[in-house]
Amino acid sequence: MDSRAADTIEANGVRVESDANLPLIRLRGVTKKYGTGQVALMALKGVDLDIQAGEFVAIMGPSGSGKSTAMNVLGCLDTPTSGEYLFHGMHVENLSRDQRAKLRRRYLGFVFQGFNLLARTSAQENVELPLLYRGESAADRHRMAAKALASVGLTGWEHHTPAELSGGQQQRVAIARAIVTEPAVLLADEPTGNLDTQRSHEIMELLSSLNRDHGITVLMVTHELDMAQYARRIVHFVDGMLDRDEINAQPAGLAYVAKEGGAPC
Ligand SMILES: Nc1ncnc2c1ncn2[C@@H]1O[C@H](COP(=O)(O)OP(=O)(O)OP(=O)(O)O)[C@@H](O)[C@H]1O
Ligand SMILES: [Mg+2]
Repeated sequence: MDSRAADTIEANGVRVESDANLPLIRLRGVTKKYGTGQVALMALKGVDLDIQAGEFVAIMGPSGSGKSTAMNVLGCLDTPTSGEYLFHGMHVENLSRDQRAKLRRRYLGFVFQGFNLLARTSAQENVELPLLYRGESAADRHRMAAKALASVGLTGWEHHTPAELSGGQQQRVAIARAIVTEPAVLLADEPTGNLDTQRSHEIMELLSSLNRDHGITVLMVTHELDMAQYARRIVHFVDGMLDRDEINAQPAGLAYVAKEGGAPC
């Protein structure tokens, strides 16, 4: 992150400067209201949260407590109704849609419960997609996607389509797609929600290694305490508010070896 310490985001001729003295992420009094009048619902009721570069944070809490809403705000996919979101010291709530999109493309990677891969499209092409949006050359796309697939243990599986891959492998492709742009932050909303226990642990080992060995800040929503144990910090949401924020002194996770995948068929 240091090389990005004094950074700027430019869009529509507006330049926004970062402030390296602040945490990577800071929420202050963030609220999110869905709907209006009688049907209005406060999904976030004033959230304060600081996340430093390099942290691995699990977000837990009951269904409807605002976890995904918070992730959407943190991922710049949605804006708070009120409050401040500082990313690298930049006031995200004041950015234009274009600026937010730039910030997303440059700094953030996303992993979802349902993998969200393009069907009938090879693993390699799925991973190349964010690079295509960024205007990288075909040669660079190929090289970077192959490297990202290797880092999730899928070398040899580049030409398989999602239907030809197991759930665990599909989630690995989705993670490769999320990290191919070398994001500062990986946001994962229930990344193991569709996987069995064994695959879930393998995905968690992978996320741990991306955090530990590649310095990627990881924010992950999970319902499973076993999976949250991989994080060094566990934040609990209740009813749109931050209820508890605890340190996990002994996170789970062994050195990840790019092993799964096995020999391609
Ligand atoms: N787009 C939306 N429009 C209206 N209400 C919404 C919208 N998204 C979420 N909500 C409401 O906001 C509240 C928080 O939802 P959110 O999806 O953040 O919960 P969650 O903690 O992620 O739950 P889960 O564990 O079930 O995924 C819920 O009451 C939900 O119904
Ligand atoms: Mg959710």
